[in-house]
Amino acid sequence: MSHTPKIYVAGHRGMVGSAIVRQLLAQGYPAHRIITRTHSELDLTDQAAVRAFFAAEKPDQVYLAAAKVGGIHANNTYPAEFIYQNLMVEANTIDAAFRNGVQQLLFLGSSCIYPKLAQQPMREDALLTSTLEPTNEPYAIAKIAGIKLCESYNRQYGESHGVDYRSVMPTNLYGPGDNYHPENSHVIPALIRRFHEAKVNNVPSVAIWGTGTPKREFLYVNDMAAACVHVMNLSKATYDQQTQSMLSHINVGCGYDLTIREVAETIGKTVGYKGEITFDTTKPDGTPRKLMDSSRLNALGWHAKVNLEEGLHAAYQDFLANYVTQN
Ligand SMILES: NC(=O)c1ccc[n+]([C@@H]2O[C@H](COP(=O)([O-])OP(=O)(O)OC[C@H]3O[C@@H](n4cnc5c(N)ncnc54)[C@H](OP(=O)(O)O)[C@@H]3O)[C@@H](O)[C@H]2O)c1
Repeated sequence: MSHTPKIYVAGHRGMVGSAIVRQLLAQGYPAHRIITRTHSELDLTDQAAVRAFFAAEKPDQVYLAAAKVGGIHANNTYPAEFIYQNLMVEANTIDAAFRNGVQQLLFLGSSCIYPKLAQQPMREDALLTSTLEPTNEPYAIAKIAGIKLCESYNRQYGESHGVDYRSVMPTNLYGPGDNYHPENSHVIPALIRRFHEAKVNNVPSVAIWGTGTPKREFLYVNDMAAACVHVMNLSKATYDQQTQSMLSHINVGCGYDLTIREVAETIGKTVGYKGEITFDTTKPDGTPRKLMDSSRLNALGWHAKVNLEEGLHAAYQDFLANYVTQN
């Protein structure tokens, strides 16, 4: 593409979407070529509104980072909303993009697309080999549909219209813009909040659920955004070398996992909590290990850069600046 592409970032106020916008600006994309709409300005479940938006704006590239996202409790309580809204967001955006000549689109999925008992580390070809974790199955099915939408448009319109829609599946993310809700947040933001509150209230010990031995993978959100821009801008020949037309998604992880104990201790250090960290072994541990195999992405020339200490430091500064002061 000879001119600077006009880029639509869907979900730009979310953790990942906002990091993609920061990444594009940092790479020199001019702000006036990046278009955004808040959820209230454009509801992506509204097909007519989405079509009208694409017809008016005619973007060249789309990052699809808008989604209805939530934890186990929300997924279990509102399964209809999770499957319906995510299917509608994806179908409307991908189809309107195609109808308006968008050739490059990047769809963001999630590691929950893989079977509950997938072999570790999870490779892309584990997709659709067995049953999913029931708690977020509706959400995962919608995300799998997003991958298959991209692949189907590529297969039907790739040659005739130059359509090249790609998908990335991130591991657990953390960083600026995260959700610190006390009951409904992921492990890193939840622990940042708990250690911070324990520090300011001089609480002598913080108990972590389980034995602390399960291992999880975490990626700093700026790394995720950098990976998204990298994958979007790979030449088609390079992308095609590492993917197949019906197995085209790419895992995005840092490549290693850490025990919950290591993560908790590093968060405690980052926050400056001096009390004791204990483990409540009467509480369940969950799956012993969850790690993505990111060798496909590595072969495409991308590796994570930010280690946990650096990432946690930045996340905690963001928490202090944007969360503590508002509450
Ligand atoms: N965070 C993680 O650890 C993680 C891990 C793996 C994958 N991912 C994936 O990455 C993507 C982005 O996640 P995130 O953490 O950035 O989520 P997020 O912070 O909740 O952001 C999602 C954004 O999408 C917007 N949105 C939702 N429904 C919409 C609709 N109908 N129309 C227009 N906008 C809508 C939301 O706006 P409102 O808030 O106004 O509704 C929000 O700004 C998701 O696909 C998610 O599955 C995230």
